[in-house]
Amino acid sequence: MDGLHAPTPPGLGIVPRKAPPLDIAAIPRFWFDNDPFKTRFFDALSLLFPEGEKFFIACVRDYRANITDPALQQQVKDFIYQEGQHGALHTAFNDRLKAQGVQVDRILARQRKIMFDGFRGKLPRRYTLGQTAAAEHLTAIMAHRFTHADVFGRADPIARALFAWHAVEEIEHKAVAFDVLRTVAKGGWLNRAASMLQVSVTFPLHVVLLMNHLLKLDGVLPDPQVWKDGRQWLLGSDGLLRPLLGEYLQYYRFGFHPNDQGDVARIQRWREEFAAHGDARLATDRTLHA
Ligand SMILES: [Fe+2]
Ligand SMILES: [Fe+2]
Repeated sequence: MDGLHAPTPPGLGIVPRKAPPLDIAAIPRFWFDNDPFKTRFFDALSLLFPEGEKFFIACVRDYRANITDPALQQQVKDFIYQEGQHGALHTAFNDRLKAQGVQVDRILARQRKIMFDGFRGKLPRRYTLGQTAAAEHLTAIMAHRFTHADVFGRADPIARALFAWHAVEEIEHKAVAFDVLRTVAKGGWLNRAASMLQVSVTFPLHVVLLMNHLLKLDGVLPDPQVWKDGRQWLLGSDGLLRPLLGEYLQYYRFGFHPNDQGDVARIQRWREEFAAHGDARLATDRTLHA
């Protein structure tokens, strides 16, 4: 570490928690506000997580043997543990989609081909670590947003507990891939900017393609009003993702570091609750209603 930045967000450590027991099978089909578009946005994210997280782990592992700082070495270990647990619980969540007719295995096989045969098979290791740090930044700024009480207010309590647990841990480990890129792989600004530009196209593109597929299965497409209303909810002037634009752009600043942004105080309540009783649903309910 160069001493300029705290290794984890101030006041936070990376806690390697076992995936919390949640009754995933009980989550209804349209679990978010009984709304297909809102539900399928988060379902699409969930479909991207298990393979994406395996990719992130592989890209950070490429440099693991070169890490000399014991603090960063420990963070990488905890990062790998957390991402592994996320993959496990999101796999259970995605298995639920199979019963709805979603070809989950085919979708995941295609993602593996793109990420492991395509990206990792053809691109330099330093660049794929750049892709990982970029994706982790997008995940972290969404995670900060998703821990706002107003976001999941009308969502199913089990599904939102899954996303809240995941969001808290994404915030805890948000700087790990970035720090390995910067201090160990010596990835510079050009790597960071180029990989972020690419991920900013390919990640939303995959979300849209998956949503299109899922909403067609639901029979709500090809109604153009569905995309129109959904776009407003997601990207409109008071949309879900609109407040993230500034934090997104910060990534292109020369002196950017993930721990310099985001309100981490908000997730403290969740962490304290979970540490006390280990019930993700209760911790989420109490945090959202705080
Ligand atoms: Fe994750
Ligand atoms: Fe992550």
